[in-house]
Order: sequence, then structure tokens, then C-alpha cells
Amino acid sequence: MSHQKFYSKAHFYDLLFRFKDLAKENQTLIDLYQKLNDKMPASFLDIAAGPASNAIEMSKRGITSTAMDYSQEMVDYGLMRAKEEGATISYFQGDMRDFRSPKPVDLAAIFMISTSYLLTNDDMLQHLKSMASNLNPQGIYVLEMPHPIDLFAVGKHTLAQWEEKWEETWQERWEEYWEHQDGDTKVSLQWGEEADPFDPITQIRTVTARLKYQTPEETGEIVDHSAQREYTYQEMKLLIQISGVFELCCALGNWNTAIPFSNAKESSRMILVLRKL
Ligand SMILES: C[S@@+](CC[C@H](N)C(=O)[O-])C[C@H]1O[C@@H](n2cnc3c(N)ncnc32)[C@H](O)[C@@H]1O
Repeated sequence: MSHQKFYSKAHFYDLLFRFKDLAKENQTLIDLYQKLNDKMPASFLDIAAGPASNAIEMSKRGITSTAMDYSQEMVDYGLMRAKEEGATISYFQGDMRDFRSPKPVDLAAIFMISTSYLLTNDDMLQHLKSMASNLNPQGIYVLEMPHPIDLFAVGKHTLAQWEEKWEETWQERWEEYWEHQDGDTKVSLQWGEEADPFDPITQIRTVTARLKYQTPEETGEIVDHSAQREYTYQEMKLLIQISGVFELCCALGNWNTAIPFSNAKESSRMILVLRKL
């Protein structure tokens, strides 16, 4: 499940995803929290945290930071990275559908495509309920999700004015290739292939991840196929409402509080900002 062979290579994942702008993402989270609650968050939980890069950056700001992930390899790697960087974090292994953080937190976030591993409406509802039970009163939970334009691009039936954006987004999101070199270590990732099947009834795509790596000690390739669910905005609004544990405060289109969620070109994500009821 959930590309676990790929995520077990935590160090290679980390090298490939160093492009993330952690400071910008975390500053946006803090700005949102301050705007909604009129104070600084004292604690942060990084959900499906991978190498825990966001938790590590938050802890360097003096915010008590915890991370959780399904992959034990990611937990071990994240703790090692934190130690290397002189940061203090807690990191526990768990399933985002049902988990218990050592202590409730003020602020939590899930980044990139991690919500796509919640395959059914029930998975998402369980996740929201579990998340809320780990938040302090007025706690804020921010979900970074793919822009639903990807979903409606299926079959290439898009609105004419979206075509330019569709081309770019599609290329960016589903058939992306990139590589990274760090000293003697070379890694590349092909994320998604043209033949990956999409089921329009379940909204689940079987996504192929192809990781190649070369170090002085080992050379290899991992090919991992996993199901990923795509969500629409309308579904998310309903699921949040049905959960009974969160209100949707606002939606951003990027990691910038000045960019609302929309069909404009700069809005390439669906970032949902939830407050615990
Ligand atoms: C795309 S990575 C995101 C990692 C990190 N947040 C980042 O921004 O780089 C997705 C992560 O979700 C984790 N994951 C997948 N299914 C999960 C589940 N049910 N519960 C917790 N973590 C899960 C994977 O192990 C992986 O580390």
C-alpha cells in the first residue's frame, strides 16, 4: 500500500524533495494560525511527515514539533536528520486514519500528495476525526492537496480557457521526472506514467513510481505501483461538514496567504484551512 517500497528509501526521497520551500510553507502556516487565533502556535504536528523536514524547520523556530508517518524507515530517518541538524522533534509511527499523538497540538499540516493515500470517503472522515482529537481547542489543520483541475482533465474535456494551464499542470503532476546529485550519490524519480490507469468512479489512479539510485555502495531501481485518490473541492466541503469536527475557514491556491484558491494560473494547489469546532 501507499508506495511503501519507494518511501522505505527515505534518504533518496529526501534528496529528491529538497526543492520544497520549507520556510515559506511554515511561515504561511504560522500566519494563518495567527490570523485565525490572534496568537502564535506553541506546538506543531507534521502528518505523513516523510523526512520530517517541515517539523524540523518548525522546531528551529522554537515551536514544539512532532511528526508522524506510516513508514518506520521515514521515522528512523527523520529522527536522524533532526539530530544532525541539532533540532529537537518527537516522531512516531502511525496510520493517519487513526492515531494518537503524545500530546494535543495547536497547529497541524499535511503536505503535497499525502491525502491521496486516503482512498475512500470513510478514510477521509476517519482521518479528520482522528486529527481533531489530537488538536487543542481552536486548533488549526491545513491540508495541501492537488488542485482538482487534474481530476477534471481526465479525457481532456477541459474548458478552453484552462487548456494552457491543463497542459502544464498535467505534465507537472502526473508525468514528472527529475534527478538530483549529492556527491557520489545520484537519484532520479519518474512519478506517474502515461499508462497508469484512472478509475473515474472511485477517482483512484494507480500511480507508478520509478526510483533509480547509484551510490558507491549500491545501485538499483525500485518500481512501485500504488492507488491514489483524487478529491474535488465540493467533496471536501461536504466531508468536512459531515465530519462534524472542523469548519472550513478558507482555501489558498498556493503557500501564500495572498493567493486564494481559484482557477487562476498562480493557484496550483488546493490548500484547505480548517479550525477545530
Ligand atoms: C509524498 S510523501 C510526503 C512527505 C513529507 N510530508 C513531504 O512533504 O516531503 C507521503 C508520505 O505519506 C506517508 N503515508 C502514506 N500513507 C500513510 C498513512 N496511512 N498514514 C501515515 N502516513 C502515510 C508515506 O509513508 C510518505 O512518507
